Parts: sequence; structure tokens; C-alpha cells
Amino acid sequence: MVRETQVQTQDLIFPFFMEDGKNKKIEIESMPGIFRWSPDSLYKEVEQCMELGIKSFVLFPSVEDSLKDKMASHSWAEENYYLHTIRRLKEHFPEAILMSDVAMDPYSSDGHDGVVENGEIVNDLTLPILAKMSLAQAQAGIDIIGPSDMMDGRVGVIRDELDCEGYTDVSIMSYTAKYASAFYGPFRDALDSAPKSGDKKTYQMDPANKREALREAELDMAEGADMLMIKPALCYLDVIHVVKEFSDIPVTAYNVSGEYAMLKAAVQKGWLDYDKAMPEMLLSIKRAGADAILTYFAKDYARMVRS
Ligand code: PBG
Repeated sequence: MVRETQVQTQDLIFPFFMEDGKNKKIEIESMPGIFRWSPDSLYKEVEQCMELGIKSFVLFPSVEDSLKDKMASHSWAEENYYLHTIRRLKEHFPEAILMSDVAMDPYSSDGHDGVVENGEIVNDLTLPILAKMSLAQAQAGIDIIGPSDMMDGRVGVIRDELDCEGYTDVSIMSYTAKYASAFYGPFRDALDSAPKSGDKKTYQMDPANKREALREAELDMAEGADMLMIKPALCYLDVIHVVKEFSDIPVTAYNVSGEYAMLKAAVQKGWLDYDKAMPEMLLSIKRAGADAILTYFAKDYARMVRS
């Protein structure tokens, strides 16, 4: 009766990894129970999740090496299977909430989120690419654009592009405070998107900084973000808390691949009890202030609370 926090299935956003082709369901080695889906198998999976009460999904493409280039030009190409999949999913499941990833890394031959010139990631050259990518996704029917790259000014540029082209109803969930974290490793394995050289520290945030997250939140709100995200979640609960106190728009948190992997590994060894530790993790993220949580645990959690 007096419980202060509850995690409900509808608070969860389930991330999906995708790969072109047919009839594929490939398990990610470092993320047991999480798969890379071809579009046809993904439709069935989405249907199952919707039956369990999960309504929101975020889609991440893996892209063949031959389609990658320095400008990530395949990201807005007519023949990009990611865009086709968004269109088909929206046709099949109009009531599902689909969120995209906007960043160059899956399409970039350098494996970076920005354009690389002389070994440096160039912020301003990246912005028009992100705008084009976002417009292509909006045209395909995406509900929420998720800029995940941390370039300065991208929320404003994307908002302008969407508004000018008539997509005023497409929202933006900004990766506001995305830290240069060691917990993205399994995700990069899943998408083969690790940087070919260097690291992401010139654009992702320093894990030591909390007040900087508030500056980022202020900028994102001024530029037109509809929701703010903190990422990763578990090592950054204090950041979720302060950003929630500071802002008056919804705050979400990304319970990332490494956080999933470490619990799964401990459970496989018999060292932790999955059914107790997993809901405790989600609860802590919600208690810290997240309105919604992106999490690979979504389906397991939905099943657990239903039974
Ligand atoms: C990159 C992106 C990353 C994740 C989401 N979008 C990885 C990165 O910045 O290298 C990580 C998510 C996870 O680890 O679950 N655009």
C-alpha cells in the first residue's frame, strides 16, 4: 500500500538488434537471450512482446561492411533495410511506439559517431548527416528519433529539419548524458560497430562529471528535445536523479548491454538470483527518477510480472 516505486511493463522500452536477410535469429554471445533478428523474424517477436504488454521498442541496425563509408551515406539510402523495416512494422503494428537510433557508427567505415578527418571527429560536419538520417526515418514512419551520438547542436538541427519537412509530430528522445563508458562492449559486438581507431571520449561524457549533465540537459531542452536520456543507468543513478529534479520533461535511462551482460554472467555461474536481482536493478533506476527504462530485460520482466 505504501510502496513508493513500481516498475510496470509499460515503463519499459525493449531494444532490438537487426540484420538484413531472412529467417535469422542469431544470439549475441555476450548477451545470452538477446538476438540479432532479420526483419521477418522480428515481426513475430514484436507481436509476442506486444501480447506481453511491451509497447515501446528501439531498433538498432547492423550493417554489412561493404555498405559502410566515411559519410554513413547508406543510413538515408532508399534501399536501407532498416528504413523498410520501420515502414513495415508501423503498418503491422500501428499502436507500437517505435524509436530509432540516429548515429553514424553502424554505417561508418571508421566506426565513429561522427565524420573523421585527420584522426579527429568533426562535430559540425556530422550535423547535416544526422539531419538527413532523421528525416529518412521520419519518412519511414518512426515515432521517436533517438540521437545517440552526443554531437553538440544535433537536437536543434534535427528538430529544424523535421519541422521544415512537415514532421512536427515526430518526437526526439535525446541521449542527453551519454558517458564514455566501458559498459557498451557487448552492444558493439552485437553490431560490429566498435571504433576502428581511437575512442569516443572526445564526444561522449567523462564519467566523473555530473554538473555537465545538467548543462547538456539545458541545451537539449532549449534545442527542442521532448525527452532526456541518461546512459548507462546503474553506475549513473545519481545523474538520473539530478536531471529528473532539474528538468520538467520526461527522463529516461538506458540500462545498457554491459549491465545486462554482467548480471547474466553472474546468474549463469549461479552467483546471483536472476528473478530477484533483475527487478531490483530496474526498481533502482525507476526510484532514481527515470520515467521509462530502455532495457534488454524488458521481455523477461514482462513475463515475470504476468505470471
Ligand atoms: C552508438 C550507441 C551505442 C549504444 C547505443 N547507441 C554504443 C556506443 O556509443 O558505442 C550502446 C547501448 C548498449 O550498450 O546497450 N550510437
